[in-house]
Amino acid sequence: MSNSPYKYDTLAVHAGQYPDPQTGAVNVPVYLSSTFQLTGIGTDRGWDYSRAGNPTRDRLEEALAILEGGTSGHAFTSGMAAISALVAMLRAGDHLICSHNVYAGTVRLFDQIISGYGIEIEYVDTSNLAAVEAAMRPNTKLVHIETPSNPLMVLTDIAGVARIAHAHGAEVSVDNTFLSPVLQNPIALGADIVMHSTTKYLNGHSDGLGGALIGSKPEHKERFLLVQKAVGGVMSPFECFLVLRGIRTLPLRVRQHEENGRAVAEFLSTHPKVSKLAYPGLKTHPQYDLAVKQQKGFGSMMSFEVASREAAGRFLAAIKIFLSAESLGGVESLASHSATTTHASVTAEQRTSMGITEGRVRLSIGIEDKEDLIADLEQALQAV
Ligand SMILES: Cc1ncc(COP(=O)(O)O)c(C=O)c1O
Repeated sequence: MSNSPYKYDTLAVHAGQYPDPQTGAVNVPVYLSSTFQLTGIGTDRGWDYSRAGNPTRDRLEEALAILEGGTSGHAFTSGMAAISALVAMLRAGDHLICSHNVYAGTVRLFDQIISGYGIEIEYVDTSNLAAVEAAMRPNTKLVHIETPSNPLMVLTDIAGVARIAHAHGAEVSVDNTFLSPVLQNPIALGADIVMHSTTKYLNGHSDGLGGALIGSKPEHKERFLLVQKAVGGVMSPFECFLVLRGIRTLPLRVRQHEENGRAVAEFLSTHPKVSKLAYPGLKTHPQYDLAVKQQKGFGSMMSFEVASREAAGRFLAAIKIFLSAESLGGVESLASHSATTTHASVTAEQRTSMGITEGRVRLSIGIEDKEDLIADLEQALQAV
């Protein structure tokens, strides 16, 4: 991206999305072909089998690499498949550090599957750089961070973690799902690998599952191509098309998401039934300065507490425009009860140690009219 003469809005429309050389089609064609005719023994036109590579997926992967300022992009069936691919090359005896406050699906993958392969997994409060330094070991291979974290919006200093990890010979991967490449570019801040659940802002319309890894070195390309081909959890061509289409309006959508997010956060910040509002765009957020330093905006994810699990239930039953549903980053506003949705798969003790209470509600602010959204929240909070 840094080498491109074009600004971000232009790249979002055109990166990887140039006219089809054969037909001139301005949209990337969806190549629904599992296999490709070979031109001879061991020769082809660039593709032989869609698990290894597909022309539609190539374009999405090119776009992702450009938008994140990386050297290669790799698209997977889901965000979880992307995280699985990220850790697939770790070996028994390797040490993996993960932010203590992450999407619970990541914890489920690491604790219930990856740890069985003999990889040592350690959860660390990566918002505290001294804790990261103290956790580094000679066998630490990867530090995986999520910033802002789900749902408490805790930030990790990406450049700080990268400095520490690199000094110990480890790599840093960043789950950039909550901000999208429009608002945060971890590679420019020193991270090695970026991960996305494209299911969220990149697709943007809640109509597909997908995930991505963006590498910053030639060896990442080699490694992730091998994992795509060997493990096989690759994104389908149609799904790639949907994400490509979503990317074209990503900067536009993110601007509206963010304008609405700020307005909703300001409204909630003074509401008597709301406590512990977590939104990094408020000056009262303990990491506001870090958000300003490493992000290009504050996004539209936030969470807050109401008095109890029952109060959260009443709130979720009363919302009308907001939908009570998991997920985030789509054009529609969603609300979810963290303890029984995104963080249902970790134990109550893990939730308590993460700071996720029974009264915590997460909001993904969509692109509807902000006054309508605030009015909906106001009437739903009256039911609490
Ligand atoms: C921050 C974050 N990372 C990863 C994932 C997993 O993505 P997917 O649902 O596409 O597998 C999610 C899903 O909610 C998420 O919120």
